[in-house]
Amino acid sequence: MEFKDPASYTDLTQGQIKHIDFRIGVNFSTRTLDVEARYEMQEPVRGSLHLDSLKIDLKEAQANGRKLEWEFDAQDEILGERLHLKGLEGDSTFTLVFCTSPEARALQWLNGSQTAGGNYPFLYSQCQAIHARSIFPCQDTPSVRFTYSADVEVPQGLVAVMAAEQVGVQEGDALSVSKRSGQNVFSFKMPQPIPSYLFALAAGNLVFREFGPRTGIYAEPETIEAAAWEFAENELKMVEAEKLLGPYLWGRYDLVVLPPSFPYGGMENPRLTFLTPTAILGTRAYTSLITHELAHAWTGNLVTNATWQDFWLNEGWTTYAETRITEVLEGREVIDLHGVYNEKRLMAVMEQIGIDSPRTCLKLPGDEKDADSFTTIIPYYKGGFFLQECEYAVGRERFDAFIQKYMASFQFQSLTTEAFLDFLKAELPEVFKKVDVHKWIYEPGLPEERHRPKSRLFDDIQKVLNDYQQGIRPTKEQVVGWHRYQILSFLQGLPRQIPVQDCQYFDDLLELEKRNDVAFFYYFYLVCIASGYEGILPRIERFLEKNGRILYVRPIVHAMIETEWSRGYVRPLFERIRDRHHQITVNAIERLLQKAGL
Ligand code: BES
Ligand code: ZN
Repeated sequence: MEFKDPASYTDLTQGQIKHIDFRIGVNFSTRTLDVEARYEMQEPVRGSLHLDSLKIDLKEAQANGRKLEWEFDAQDEILGERLHLKGLEGDSTFTLVFCTSPEARALQWLNGSQTAGGNYPFLYSQCQAIHARSIFPCQDTPSVRFTYSADVEVPQGLVAVMAAEQVGVQEGDALSVSKRSGQNVFSFKMPQPIPSYLFALAAGNLVFREFGPRTGIYAEPETIEAAAWEFAENELKMVEAEKLLGPYLWGRYDLVVLPPSFPYGGMENPRLTFLTPTAILGTRAYTSLITHELAHAWTGNLVTNATWQDFWLNEGWTTYAETRITEVLEGREVIDLHGVYNEKRLMAVMEQIGIDSPRTCLKLPGDEKDADSFTTIIPYYKGGFFLQECEYAVGRERFDAFIQKYMASFQFQSLTTEAFLDFLKAELPEVFKKVDVHKWIYEPGLPEERHRPKSRLFDDIQKVLNDYQQGIRPTKEQVVGWHRYQILSFLQGLPRQIPVQDCQYFDDLLELEKRNDVAFFYYFYLVCIASGYEGILPRIERFLEKNGRILYVRPIVHAMIETEWSRGYVRPLFERIRDRHHQITVNAIERLLQKAGL
């Protein structure tokens, strides 16, 4: 069957990339990467090869000593330009020399002032979903995997890291990629085949701290202490993850702490999770984020969704695995609480999008090519609940055996939802008798017939919320010792509009400023905006200036646009802060503003 990924110009009948050797010069003054890339194909290629690219300045293309002709022959605002390499004569290798654009969509270039230390510039990439093409021409679809090596040259004093194995460092005046002195060259290899969206690079004033034999963390010297304490339990997490999912096949598992403009909580780049610094709370209360990114080492990185329409295979499976590992580490009560909270969140988002919208299906409609625009929490939680339902249908023991077999059978492969369902049917046919699989996958909303999460810890919060509806505000004694997810559940459950004095009261009661948890701020600011608490504006502005996490930034901006008193502030604020954010965040906000005619 002909396979097509709507988010890519890849034509698999032309051949597949097998390996790339990169030489990358990181140039902070021009905000560009100067790259030479030698591509190796699975099979010799004749005639044309189409690659995805976005704002790549191609300078030279050659194969086996012959210059190649090329053309950028199809253009699209989202997909970018289709690079058409011509005149391949059964070549298995070719080399491209090019430069990325200062507007490369995957990259954020930061001034020292945007980092924790304040002095050194910082660069990081975010390739998921379809931004790798702005770093190098490639078959930018998760259905193609390749291995790579890279020599990365950065100014002296900076450290380069990649989602790969570090194999060497040449400091200072040593022989360098461009033979320039005063540069450091870091060498990497990625021996396991990855899809393009898992290519990742960062450079900055980074230091390393080890946790255990396989785990450690990179961060700026100013944050390393706190970061190392927060995530010190990672080695233990790996042991639990391996019990559930099988052996870890990537070698090391390290973290790198990025500046707060990073658009995600975490990104599961292989061997090296990219992490928001806002997860460092000083309490270890949000390390489920790491559990999530670590689980992706299997569900996503090892077994990968074939297209972004099958995104739930990555995120739904990861949410399920995260829950299972958290159950071992934190106990049943905690995951029951997560369950109720997640279900409420899921329902709220579905209602917002429209409960009958095809965007609430697990398998997403194929006509959308902007893979970033449909990243909602739906594939996470609906996908996680679906897999839980499958577990209940056959019992944990059999489902656990199925998980291990699934990982082993599809390791280093990409698969569609349909291929997954075929596997499920062959291995666990009873699931289809007890669970309406078709409804879960292909129909919008949530099936009526399902196990509903229940939680005593959540019920306690519901009582407090009910009292508040009757005019009784919770007291300090009541909220002391609340679990982080209880606070989240409380804030999520508040009526959208409350008296301004109550906004101030809850701010003090829950010590929101002191706790400095962006997820708390997120719910709190939504209530403040809707409640007309105008005094909160400077704090929201400071929040948006610094934090780039799409999951929170987008709804806050949306709420400001929807509300009369705050609407006029949004465009000027955005213009003031846009340079401080990654393009993914900028594009998301720009889309909201344009939709609102602002
Ligand atoms: N892979 C995702 C991040 C992502 C999704 C990047 C879609 C680009 C497109 C990552 O694993 C993730 O899900 N991060 C979440 C946190 C998680 C704990 C729910 C996030 O960033 O909010
Ligand atoms: Zn994820």
